[in-house]
Amino acid sequence: MNPKPSSSRFNALIKIPTPIALCIGVICGLLISNFFSAPSIPSWPYTHIPSRTPLRNKVPLPTHQQRERVFNLLTSLSPHYTKECTRQSQPLYVQQAQERYAPLKGYQSPNHGFWLSALGLSPSPQSPYQASTSDVTAKPHKYFFAINLYNSFDVIPDLFATLFKVASILGYQNVYVSIYENGSTDQTKALLRIFDALTRSVGMRVTIRTSMRTRGAFVHRIEYLAEVRNAAFVPLHELRESNNEIFDTIIFMNDILPCVDDLLELIWQSRRNSAGITCAADYMYHDDLGAPVFYDNWVARDINGTALENAPFNAIFHHPPSAHAWQAHLPVQVQSCWNGVAILDPAPFYSPPHVKFRMAKIVQGECSASECSLICNDYWERGYGRIMMVPRVKLAYDRKVFDIIHPKRRNLEKIRGYSRLGGLPDNPRTDPQDRAWFGPHDRLFTEEEGEPIDFVPGPSHVWCWGWDGAGDLDGPDVDPIWEPMANRSRLADAILVKHNRSMIL
Ligand SMILES: *[C@@H]1O[C@H](CO)[C@@H](O)[C@H](O)[C@H]1NC(C)=O
Ligand SMILES: *[C@@H]1O[C@H](CO)[C@@H](O)[C@H](O)[C@H]1NC(C)=O
Ligand SMILES: *[C@@H]1O[C@H](CO)[C@@H](O)[C@H](O)[C@H]1NC(C)=O
Ligand SMILES: *[C@@H]1O[C@H](CO)[C@@H](O)[C@H](O)[C@H]1NC(C)=O
Repeated sequence: MNPKPSSSRFNALIKIPTPIALCIGVICGLLISNFFSAPSIPSWPYTHIPSRTPLRNKVPLPTHQQRERVFNLLTSLSPHYTKECTRQSQPLYVQQAQERYAPLKGYQSPNHGFWLSALGLSPSPQSPYQASTSDVTAKPHKYFFAINLYNSFDVIPDLFATLFKVASILGYQNVYVSIYENGSTDQTKALLRIFDALTRSVGMRVTIRTSMRTRGAFVHRIEYLAEVRNAAFVPLHELRESNNEIFDTIIFMNDILPCVDDLLELIWQSRRNSAGITCAADYMYHDDLGAPVFYDNWVARDINGTALENAPFNAIFHHPPSAHAWQAHLPVQVQSCWNGVAILDPAPFYSPPHVKFRMAKIVQGECSASECSLICNDYWERGYGRIMMVPRVKLAYDRKVFDIIHPKRRNLEKIRGYSRLGGLPDNPRTDPQDRAWFGPHDRLFTEEEGEPIDFVPGPSHVWCWGWDGAGDLDGPDVDPIWEPMANRSRLADAILVKHNRSMIL
């Protein structure tokens, strides 16, 4: 077992003060004010005080055509790594994805074109004023994207292109992006400003904040990392205090590049299961094995509390029922996970005792786990222990691994080596490529992949490999133990739905 806890996060700290230039333009503020005029009624237990938006001169939002121009600009200008994700998807997958994710649509558009092109297809020649088929009269579901960046010049164009496409589906007005950037030494900030301006122009809200604090101010490295993550959540609390704006789903990501449908699937699964935390699976190349292996095993624990393995897809889980479900590409309940992108239920952030990222309470004998493991434990204790991993969503940190875990789909005739004369066409549902551990990105959905998970209460003990970080070790430095879990997390109540976020399917 090789615990390389996200080593990229733990590089030497270089600090060069850069003038902060946060673009919080007056115009943008006015654009945004348009959205506060629509009343929203939180369905879960928070008293709704209608926000009083002072009457201001309203700057009209761009017209549909103008928005589409910005959309085309942003999405063609930038995708570099992720552009292959959905481009040549098989038609049946595209149809399935459109049907599956239609309940996530958060806008009333006269045009289906956005929807199609966001999934990587060219818009079909339809009347641009055809009526929308979805009924979007229900209370909008609001999404808070929290993103930590550091020297991310390379990934920002793709990141924004993806965010922008996802937001075009969720509804720009329902999406808030909070980026916390801690003192990058490359041109991250300059790039961020460009995208900030473009996204704001269509009514998507973005805040970008920059820190000048270095790790030196903190005793413990986990304390510092927790601080950086919490910083991305500051606007969540500010918006609640100033506007009583409540978000329904949080998407937390680092500098990893999911495809549009990866994010949609995570959000879909999270809402389908009203899950506390929903994770993807991230993979890293393992030189000795010559294959990609599951990466974030410092955090990930199966529902028995056992650590997941740095192993290829088929050997990640020890817990037999979990291994079985995983190998059938079905979502799996876990005790703890993070893995690059996590979808969180915001409820435990809003209601006391508020969860936040934190380091272990070492004086109270708590094992020095990652801030992400600890937040999973805290979710369990607050009764939000519906934590799950989605095997379909495979994430890579580089191109090499991306290409291995998402091979291009090959023609079935080429695989078979002969072409059929007459008879039935090939059945895409039985394509052997889709039974492979690492198959094409556009694998068809099975019915079971949409079934809700049967959650069970948490394990009595969880394997914890502590990292006090006192020495210079670039990884866990304390002997691992089976740490007992709080009684609360072992009760049936820990997995009861407290905040129903399900979609109308
Ligand atoms: C910013 O945070 C990242 C981890 O998220 C860390 O690797 C980097 O060193 C930090 N940068 C500074 C200037 O402290
Ligand atoms: C399940 O957890 C217990 C500790 O609570 C451990 O001893 C056992 O080996 C685990 N089983 C598997 C299959 O990991
Ligand atoms: C937790 O449960 C165990 C037995 O199941 C009991 O002995 C212990 O006192 C409980 N702890 C707390 C803090 O309630
Ligand atoms: C959540 O809400 C949906 C639709 O609003 C409903 O069908 C479902 O039964 C609810 N689930 C729970 C656990 O309350």
